Amino acid sequence: MTMVGWGLANVCLEARTAEGVNAFHPGKAWLDTDGKPISAFGGGVLHHRGVYYWFGEIMDGKTIKHDVALRGISCYSSRDLYQWKYEGNVLPAVKNDPSSDLAPGKVAERPKVVYNRRTRQFVMWLHVDRRDYKSARAGVAVSDRPTGPYRYMGSCRPNGAQSRDLTLFQDRDGKAYLIFASEENRTMHIAQLDADYLKPDGVVTRVFVDQFREAPAAFEYQGRYFLITSKCAGWAPSAALYAVATSMLGPWKTMGNPTVGPGSDKTFNSQSTYVLPVAGRPGAFIFMADRWNPNNLPDSRYVWLPISVHRDIVQIAWRDQWNLSVFK
Ligand code: GAL
Repeated sequence: MTMVGWGLANVCLEARTAEGVNAFHPGKAWLDTDGKPISAFGGGVLHHRGVYYWFGEIMDGKTIKHDVALRGISCYSSRDLYQWKYEGNVLPAVKNDPSSDLAPGKVAERPKVVYNRRTRQFVMWLHVDRRDYKSARAGVAVSDRPTGPYRYMGSCRPNGAQSRDLTLFQDRDGKAYLIFASEENRTMHIAQLDADYLKPDGVVTRVFVDQFREAPAAFEYQGRYFLITSKCAGWAPSAALYAVATSMLGPWKTMGNPTVGPGSDKTFNSQSTYVLPVAGRPGAFIFMADRWNPNNLPDSRYVWLPISVHRDIVQIAWRDQWNLSVFK
């Protein structure tokens, strides 16, 4: 196993300590504190006042033609990142209005939430679409509390551009960015949001030009910004590709595949969704990904792995199980 930067603790120590619920088991079933499978796909995590909140797509019921009915967005809370309590469906499907972005026959994917200190609102952005993915819009919802309920404010094509797979990134200076697959998924856009985080302010940059990347996940460490993506491949896994920059607005430099070792050609059979900074541990980041089961989407799995960062180099290696002690 290649070790870089501050290093990861050795595998023996991990096996001794990573038992019970105090461990991550990438690719295995993950139950909430009620003993039910966690349903929070294409998810993201917000850390607020000592609590982590995991938001994701609720996938429930039958998979028909590789799709499920839109149910809404789940929220789970945790203090330790291992055990998650279900907080409810915080942005439920709208059942009585077929024209709503959130009608059960539509698509609402990859929700991400950030807290706006100025407005004291929790702001969620998510990809909303028709089943044929032709509408390609970004929806926004707000709440006074992390656990919702969220009030849906509507959707847009940011700066007039198509928006499919997306993520949010909040910088140290309070600026937030919507990062999304655009231009028929050829090129990704990074659009700066206004002070309320409710709409793009017109400042935008293009990245991975003509590369057909999606499933963006961004993070920052020591003044370097990283953007990890998958290939546009539907539910199929692909090799990840990342870029680095000294500012969210670029210029971005394409680096290569951040995953290493066996399985890295397919991101260990998963697709990126978010990078979670571990609170209070500078340099500790968790790569969050979905291992899709296209024939039975609600039975998909989560792949969470530690990231190691050294200057421009990001590395993610497979682990059968691990815990936070890998971060020194
Ligand atoms: C993927 C995307 C998923 C979902 C899927 C539908 O490319 O990352 O979020 O949209 O396509 O086929």
